[in-house]
Amino acid sequence: MQALLNIAVRAARRAGEVIVRSLNRLESLQVSSKGRNDFVTEIDHAAEREIISVIRRAYPNHAFLAEESGASGDSDTVWIIDPLDGTTNFLHGFPVFAVSIACQHRGRLEHAVVYDPMRQELFTASRGAGAQLDNRRIRVSRQRDLEGALIATGFPYRANARYADAYLAMLKTVMLASAGVRRAGSAALDLAYVAAGRVDGFWEIGLSPWDTAAGTLLIQEAGGRIGTLTGGEYRQNGNIIAGNPKVYAALVKALAPHVPEDLREP
Ligand code: IPD
Ligand code: CA
Ligand code: CA
Repeated sequence: MQALLNIAVRAARRAGEVIVRSLNRLESLQVSSKGRNDFVTEIDHAAEREIISVIRRAYPNHAFLAEESGASGDSDTVWIIDPLDGTTNFLHGFPVFAVSIACQHRGRLEHAVVYDPMRQELFTASRGAGAQLDNRRIRVSRQRDLEGALIATGFPYRANARYADAYLAMLKTVMLASAGVRRAGSAALDLAYVAAGRVDGFWEIGLSPWDTAAGTLLIQEAGGRIGTLTGGEYRQNGNIIAGNPKVYAALVKALAPHVPEDLREP
């Protein structure tokens, strides 16, 4: 395994330990609000510190873009980190959350880890070397259309709540056209599940780079596609459609009439 990926895996597992260890004291955790419906706990911070310290020890000169501590350092190599994706689930003891770590070199995603500490499932990818779940190769599903497909999504419930009506029109379309829609509460895991073929597609409005960076590489390396809401090249801007190539194309087509004007690319 690549040295960089190795370090990312070690960091993700350490963060997972921090998260799992705290589950028996959820009631006493310090929680603060970053904005409407946006909570952060001392565990988000502790997990992030752990990840950064593991990586820094190995690569003192690399830069970081981490959800809780922001951007730091100046380097061609940037680690993009969500220490706890699914904080709302975590706070309620709803066991769907993950650690997401991506390594980017000169703007190109090179390595990715999404780790689910409850199931101890490790999703990894390196550019050109495929995607794995627990060291076994994974591929996107072979589902050919929305009919019969299982689709994951995330609701707009923070600043992106202004898109609620457009989103509900999208949801109605996909709900009626597919076999089911799931809102599990961790975008990083949703994307990992697309890569593993557990869901056939995914869409969400208003994500951040740390939610999607690792998932993007996982999906690409698993033979899937990931793009903007109108099917353009995805540059971590947070408005996202993903899927196996067929379901991706079907979602782009189905959602097109409902994409808000300001989220359409020229
Ligand atoms: C959130 C989760 C959720 C998505 C939100 C994200 P957080 O991340 O990924 O599924 O709907 O948009 O912000 O805040 O728990 O790290
Ligand atoms: Ca997140
Ligand atoms: Ca987070």
